Amino acid sequence: MIVSMIAAMDKNRLIGNGPDIPWQMPVDRRHFRDMTIGKPVVMGRKTFETLKRPLGKRRNIILTRNRTYEAPKGCIVAHSVEDILQLCEGTEELMICGGAPIYEAFLPHANRLYLTRIHATFKGDVYFPAFDTEAWQEVKRIDGEPDEKNPYPYSFVFLERK
Ligand SMILES: NC(=O)c1ccc[n+]([C@@H]2O[C@H](COP(=O)([O-])OP(=O)(O)OC[C@H]3O[C@@H](n4cnc5c(N)ncnc54)[C@H](OP(=O)(O)O)[C@@H]3O)[C@@H](O)[C@H]2O)c1
Repeated sequence: MIVSMIAAMDKNRLIGNGPDIPWQMPVDRRHFRDMTIGKPVVMGRKTFETLKRPLGKRRNIILTRNRTYEAPKGCIVAHSVEDILQLCEGTEELMICGGAPIYEAFLPHANRLYLTRIHATFKGDVYFPAFDTEAWQEVKRIDGEPDEKNPYPYSFVFLERK
């Protein structure tokens, strides 16, 4: 199984501010949808609760320590990384969608990264974990210029573990 992590971050690896994403970049929301559609998505309980509704056309897996957590119909609740890896055995690609402790916990298991690098800096308090760039090889990069709806330059970067 390919274990992939998908995240958008600023120049300092910032990914969030309280419950919010610090920027508005519809191009990245579309990229997220395109990269995750049809695949199981794993989210921490806090990230899941920022959604208006579960992500459509994807198996939503929510990680929480709360044994009595009640998720909307159709969503799966899990309590450990190992449970999720076992549950998804046989899946082609598992998409890890944050936030910070979820990226941290899955980093040792991940073999692919889909990173949106936003070439700007923002205020916030949630960070993608530091990772050894030497251990990863960039296999593809798409650079994007700002436009009316997307105010910052960005790159979609695809990395594979060496
Ligand atoms: N830029 C991006 O790509 C991106 C992506 C995702 C999220 N975000 C941002 O990240 C922030 C939210 O993320 P967050 O880091 O604060 O929280 P989070 O990772 O979404 O959720 C944290 C919760 O997950 C559960 N959890 C964490 N580790 C666990 C483990 N090992 N086993 C079982 N359960 C575990 C716990 O839930 P319980 O408390 O219920 O036990 C914990 O409180 C927001 O700012 C959001 O906008 C950004």
